[in-house]
Amino acid sequence: MNIGTQAVQIGLEWDTRTGAVSVPVYQTATFRHPGLGQSTGYDYSRSGNPTRQALEDGIARLDGAARGFAYSSGMAAIANLLLLFRSGDHIIVTEDLYGGTCRLFDKVFNQFGLSFSYVDTSDTGAVRAALQPYTRAVFVETLTNPLLKFADLPAISAICKENRLLLIADNTFLTPYLLRPLDQGADIAVYSATKYLAGHNDTVAGLVTVKDPGLAERVYFHQNSVGATLGPQDSWLVIRGMKTLSVRLDRHQENALKIATWLASHPRITKVYYPGLSEHPDHDLMKRNARGFGAMIAFEVDNHALVEQVLLKTGLISFAESLGGVESLITFPEVQTHADIPPELRARLGINNVLLRLSVGIEDADDLIADLKQALEA
Ligand SMILES: Cc1ncc(COP(=O)(O)O)c(C=O)c1O
Repeated sequence: MNIGTQAVQIGLEWDTRTGAVSVPVYQTATFRHPGLGQSTGYDYSRSGNPTRQALEDGIARLDGAARGFAYSSGMAAIANLLLLFRSGDHIIVTEDLYGGTCRLFDKVFNQFGLSFSYVDTSDTGAVRAALQPYTRAVFVETLTNPLLKFADLPAISAICKENRLLLIADNTFLTPYLLRPLDQGADIAVYSATKYLAGHNDTVAGLVTVKDPGLAERVYFHQNSVGATLGPQDSWLVIRGMKTLSVRLDRHQENALKIATWLASHPRITKVYYPGLSEHPDHDLMKRNARGFGAMIAFEVDNHALVEQVLLKTGLISFAESLGGVESLITFPEVQTHADIPPELRARLGINNVLLRLSVGIEDADDLIADLKQALEA
């Protein structure tokens, strides 16, 4: 069944008692037991809650996973996955990744004996070269934040299988609608559901999907043990957002292509990163391996002073962190989302003082272009 259809159906048949079309918000901490040693299947909401489970089952279905898990944020989801490893383990990581993930790895889990090597995971030779005796996993962003490099999951997965490594894919920028990582060799997919999945800039959430039932059981053990679970109200909001995933993403992408094309022709723009443009180095690979190019654009202006001008003069487009919601947002990665990346790595990657990142919303594309035009030319 089409992913868009599956997304609309999430939670639809959950409440057999009343037939409620929208899954009820089970705002309860605990559940009454029918008898000694008996359970309704729910005992305590950290361990399981019906609204959260409707979401967890829904994302598992969209990704073709054994199970899904919902967390209080994308970072909580990623932190929970790191509990699969132990002191001394080494993980190979995409070098161009969300700054918060880098901070979690280098400033939190490093203290517990995990080590991380940052490499260009679009170069399989670099991935092989980074292998160490205690390498246990490769962590990639399927489409990187902020420079929009596309990961060749089947090629990386072949290396992982050869070396018995877990492949974990952060698929936040694409969602199952555009790419199903588990179909392309990943063992685990992780999402900041705050972004396209929830889609309305109104809630913070994280989701994980796991292909193998045994591995899923271990992830569940950690989810329940640590308890950074998503509450029922937020689970309901994410489900509500996910129902319109396909129509939103179709519009997001249509707008993004128009805006990227316009930016590429503007005299004050010196570089545009958008994989939907045919000159993007990963355009052909992405055309083969994904159902679309997403709606994130990064671009460079011709001098640093213009950065502040654009951030302050855009009106329709809000100067704010985050991405993937219906409202367009613009940000300055060097200072905001990627400040925790070491400066030398930022410089090598191209996260510099003229780079802006635009999350294209679902407003009218011509209105968005007019907003950018007046901000660039003010
Ligand atoms: C690619 C990616 N992964 C993970 C996260 C973290 O998610 P959250 O902000 O929901 O904790 C973000 C946040 O921006 C992100 O962009």
